[in-house]
Amino acid sequence: MTDLTHQPAWAKLQALASEIKDAHMRDWFAADPSRAEKMQAEACGLFVDYSKNRVNDEVMAALFDLAKAQGVEHHREAMFGGKAINTTENRAVLHTALRNFSGEPVMVDGEDVMPEVLATLEKIKAFTASVHSGEHKGYTGKAVKQIVAIGIGGSFLGPKIMTEALKPHTHHAVKVHFVANVDGCHIHDVLASVDHEETLVVMSSKSFSTQETLQNTLTAKAWFLGQGGKQEDIAKHFVAVSSNVKAATEFGIAEENIFPMWDWVGGRYSLWSAIGLPISLALGFDNFKGLLEGAHDMDKHFRDAPFESNLPVILAVLGVWYRNFFDAQSHVMLPYYHYLRGLPAYVQQLDMESNGKQVTQNGDVVDWQTGPIIWGSEGTNGQHSFHQLIHQGTSVIPADFMLPLNVPNQNDTHHAMLASNCFGQTQALMQGKTFDECYADLSDKGLDEDARNALAQHKTMPGNKPSNTILFDSLTPQTLGALVAMYEHKVFVQGVIWQVNSFDQWGVELGKVLGNQVLDGIQGKAESESFDASTQHLIRRFRNANAPS
Ligand code: F6P
Repeated sequence: MTDLTHQPAWAKLQALASEIKDAHMRDWFAADPSRAEKMQAEACGLFVDYSKNRVNDEVMAALFDLAKAQGVEHHREAMFGGKAINTTENRAVLHTALRNFSGEPVMVDGEDVMPEVLATLEKIKAFTASVHSGEHKGYTGKAVKQIVAIGIGGSFLGPKIMTEALKPHTHHAVKVHFVANVDGCHIHDVLASVDHEETLVVMSSKSFSTQETLQNTLTAKAWFLGQGGKQEDIAKHFVAVSSNVKAATEFGIAEENIFPMWDWVGGRYSLWSAIGLPISLALGFDNFKGLLEGAHDMDKHFRDAPFESNLPVILAVLGVWYRNFFDAQSHVMLPYYHYLRGLPAYVQQLDMESNGKQVTQNGDVVDWQTGPIIWGSEGTNGQHSFHQLIHQGTSVIPADFMLPLNVPNQNDTHHAMLASNCFGQTQALMQGKTFDECYADLSDKGLDEDARNALAQHKTMPGNKPSNTILFDSLTPQTLGALVAMYEHKVFVQGVIWQVNSFDQWGVELGKVLGNQVLDGIQGKAESESFDASTQHLIRRFRNANAPS
């Protein structure tokens, strides 16, 4: 396979980047009134305006050529077809099977996985109904009113952020609390707020070996027993979601209370599996299914649409353009919708844990940039903190703005203001404000010439800052499913172009191992001499600060 930087399209893009580096989007919009209409695409209820990017038709064509040359179509079919594209773990990557309502089989190692996928969906549906109806009762006969969902990473972010995003669709039978961090404050505060007799703990861990989740579950178990529950009552108040059924049963979770998941579902791609049980409990199964249906629609769009109108491909190649030809170090997510405020954190794991890699599938160290830093927060809050740097800083920071056109129970003025800020920001980033415009604005400030020039210099905004604007009528479960799947496939396409394995995460293993060794040092179970001097010093200070008085 030709390496990325030896592809003819790469050389073409290098030439184009040099050719357009002094061009300004302001001038492109002035020269071509049809630019906005030409650079937009729509699918699955999502409208994407990508006209405020530093691209022209020639650049987009070369970017699509690069994606084709890198084999995106071939790899896409390999993924949907259940091939072991996660090469270092020899696993298929089939989060798409979890939402496959086509009726078609999905073969993994010669076996159709759809029967067990659909059976698990039925198990989620039945369990949700039994909890919501009050049929599932605690050991004192009380219905379940509180859910404590324990998990971290992909076993936390998806459930929490989807539930938060679909708050208007909440099912009021139960209240779901999410706990992730091993910091005891979190689990303590949650447990202090619920009654153990009406509380169900959902422990989610694909590996069933994650320190934080195991410890939080042990604490929840001790709390339950301390409140008066008995060992034999655990089965009524604890369920687990895991691919490691053996470890879960050894932990004390009744086998009938274990919701299965599979090795071919990556943690950061798992909200569509039983990891999404808390979503179903919070929103009702029909809304959880709506999420999956929306994602399935996006899967079909991603598979069928030509690159030129393919939302994930368009977003992916634009990201490659800035990452590899403008040295952009990051990409900012700006959801202009309070309920979507968690989306930047969700895409952080999805994108950075997938493409934060330095070695190709063949094991060669890359000599090109790969995954960017993903960050962001809800609009309009960011305008009053970090937007200054995006407008007048020295970095190219491509931005994804997103906004629902309608929101439930909202004062029209509030929503009109939110939309006006969203659109105003994309316009300001694109057009900026020239020195001459700033100088003219200062005509009536009583400044002498030097002061006027100096201040105009400080007020000048270069503009030409790229952004995409993603609009949708309202955030329904279906729309949210399509939105998340769009980003999943964007990350996939970029991983293929950068030739990395987007589906393993070896980079997190060392920290886990060393963390456990340091824990032994802190707890006095191991000499700390094996650590570096700094870590030894840190351990000593911690032990001194916590020495029994
Ligand atoms: O961060 C590493 C990681 O393995 C993530 O990929 C995963 O989502 C998270 O930890 C939790 O893993 P588990 O679901 O196995 O507890």
